[in-house]
Amino acid sequence: MSETSSSPSDAAIEEDLDRIRRFYRDKFLPANAWSTLLPRPYLYLRQRQRRLRDTLIACGIDTPERLRSIDVLDVGAGTGTNLAWLVELGVDPARCTGIDLMPESVAVARERLPQLRWLAGDFSSVDVGGPFDVILLVAVLTSIKDPELKQRIVDKCLSLLRPGGVFFFYDYMSRKDERGSDNYKRLSYAELEGYLRGRKARWFKRDYLRASLAESIVTRFGVTAAELVQALGVFNIEASFAYVRV
Ligand SMILES: C[S@@+](CC[C@H](N)C(=O)[O-])C[C@H]1O[C@@H](n2cnc3c(N)ncnc32)[C@H](O)[C@@H]1O
Repeated sequence: MSETSSSPSDAAIEEDLDRIRRFYRDKFLPANAWSTLLPRPYLYLRQRQRRLRDTLIACGIDTPERLRSIDVLDVGAGTGTNLAWLVELGVDPARCTGIDLMPESVAVARERLPQLRWLAGDFSSVDVGGPFDVILLVAVLTSIKDPELKQRIVDKCLSLLRPGGVFFFYDYMSRKDERGSDNYKRLSYAELEGYLRGRKARWFKRDYLRASLAESIVTRFGVTAAELVQALGVFNIEASFAYVRV
């Protein structure tokens, strides 16, 4: 075999990456369905911000001085929403790196937050530097179908953390394994725990209000009412946050 030839798993990964690029370019980005001007995305964004802050505090990153001293990487950063929140909390913009597969999204992020470091490409194969104190992987793995690519991404996240560093994860989860659709597959808790190779995740489970209820409460009574119902957890779905300390 020549040195340049790639393995069957590399070919499958390339195929999956092409599919992901097509999906984001042709469907996800033009639809703008997750614009936070819309009621449900706004409600969900606020919960994500709370969980990120909860996680930092739980992991001892709980003073302005400590926040200013951490290096952060956002994997699959999209247009930079999560890093924007961390900068607002007090993270030093010069210590933030975001990477996304879609150059279009990275261009928007760069324009929005020019003082951060932005990279475009597949995280599993791009040199992002490091190490980091906090790495985010938010709503990325459900877009990926190839299990080997998911494993490489989680392995790389964990390997780029300093000792005591924090891996912050979020996605739509399922209790049992699902087949998924062409462009979307929820992870089961067992699947993610497998990718973590025995590391213990601390979960914030069932964090989001059911979509139809969220839309109707936000529209009729406002976001505060929806947040209160969401906080009860009774009508929530398996959209779950987790963190791991290495
Ligand atoms: C649903 S979006 C979430 C964006 C962002 N994390 C957020 O919370 O708003 C998923 C993102 O993951 C990116 N992505 C998927 N596979 C990737 C990979 N292998 N490397 C880098 N980014 C990837 C996609 O391009 C997309 O922007």
